[in-house]
Amino acid sequence: METLSIARARLRHRPPTGRPFVYLNAALSADGKLAPPDRRFVPFGSARDHEHLYELRTTADAVLAGARTVDATAVTMTTGGAEYERRRLRLGLKRPLVRVIVTGGGTVNPAAEIFRHRTTPLILLTTGRTRPKQMVILRGLADEVQVFGDDQLDFAAALGWLRREWGVRRLLGEGGGEVNAALLAAGLVDEIHVTLCPVLFGGFKAPTLADGDGFATLAAAAQLKLQARRRVGDEMLLTYRVLKPGPASAGPKVPK
Ligand SMILES: NC(=O)c1ccc[n+]([C@@H]2O[C@H](COP(=O)([O-])OP(=O)(O)OC[C@H]3O[C@@H](n4cnc5c(N)ncnc54)[C@H](OP(=O)(O)O)[C@@H]3O)[C@@H](O)[C@H]2O)c1
Repeated sequence: METLSIARARLRHRPPTGRPFVYLNAALSADGKLAPPDRRFVPFGSARDHEHLYELRTTADAVLAGARTVDATAVTMTTGGAEYERRRLRLGLKRPLVRVIVTGGGTVNPAAEIFRHRTTPLILLTTGRTRPKQMVILRGLADEVQVFGDDQLDFAAALGWLRREWGVRRLLGEGGGEVNAALLAAGLVDEIHVTLCPVLFGGFKAPTLADGDGFATLAAAAQLKLQARRRVGDEMLLTYRVLKPGPASAGPKVPK
């Protein structure tokens, strides 16, 4: 487990005005994929990478993922158990970890494992595309369902609401590629953690760290600065600061 001082250093990043500090995390194959071409959930990171995920959650007020990510049976987005919960308390995070799922059309699988774990708050963010009947189902699955946008989720409005109504100052985005891309395109990502794993999936249908439409030119692309790197066995744990998150944002506030 990482030292408390490493976790405290993460907590020193102040959130930008009106929204949480947003940091993404993903395990990546050596060719930048999140999963094999059939897009099924495969835990290809090491035990250390898994621990890293829980460590990152200890400094988050909320964790967010897309509908296709939570469809996978093993995904629960919980803290990782008593040891991590004690650590959250020692770090001053007194509220339970809020879990947030993005589903533009309300297509979540109600049988997914995550909906069986109702010990911490569960929020569904959706759009006007979700039909009234489906809204009733969503309301039965989560503690709160909120609509932001008619067709695509208005992430800026949703994150502002999470900050105001749920006190979310630090939001950990856990994918998948479509949600990551939308957050990046909206200029809402401040930091990216990736674990580069010694496996290569290939395949143009495999999800990548950021899918969606992508940035059309190098000039428009998100620009990153490597902040930290660590080798653990055959894996590389990398942390990037997002320098130019896209035209929608003036950029993250970095503590002096
Ligand atoms: N290696 C890793 O660390 C890691 C982490 C996470 C996921 N994964 C893998 O990544 C894959 C899933 O990623 P994915 O890209 O296919 O799906 P995803 O991002 O998890 O979820 C996509 C869904 O989220 C909703 N959504 C995303 N952006 C939206 C927007 N701008 N507005 C409204 N709704 C939006 C849509 O739901 P609706 O269809 O309801 O509109 C969309 O179908 C899986 O293979 C998973 O195992 C790997």
